[in-house]
Amino acid sequence: MPHQSIDHPSVALCRLDDLADPGSKGFVVQGRPVFAVRQGQRVFVYLNRCPHRGIPLEWVPDQFLDSSGRLIQCASHGALFLPESGDCVAGPCSGDRLLALACRIEDGQVWLLESP
Ligand code: FES
Repeated sequence: MPHQSIDHPSVALCRLDDLADPGSKGFVVQGRPVFAVRQGQRVFVYLNRCPHRGIPLEWVPDQFLDSSGRLIQCASHGALFLPESGDCVAGPCSGDRLLALACRIEDGQVWLLESP
């Protein structure tokens, strides 16, 4: 069923169950790369662009987390980001942050609420 409102066009990204816990997955929305990160019952979505060099974070498809599964990691130079805020907490772009995109989970479906 289409899920749209005039103010907030929504895009169905995936089912919550499609994401491992913890886990992550990449998507292309309106031609732009984004990724979703799951931590428990919460999901966070970011533009897939490292603030250090402006390139995608992952080398292996859908792998955006470090080995602990608790931090987002850029594969190029190892920058680490908090899943909840996108804040860079270690690495060459420390103090910078990922571009967060509003999302919500409804009936097990993850919706992106804004255009990347
Ligand atoms: S491009 Fe991400 S840490 Fe350098």
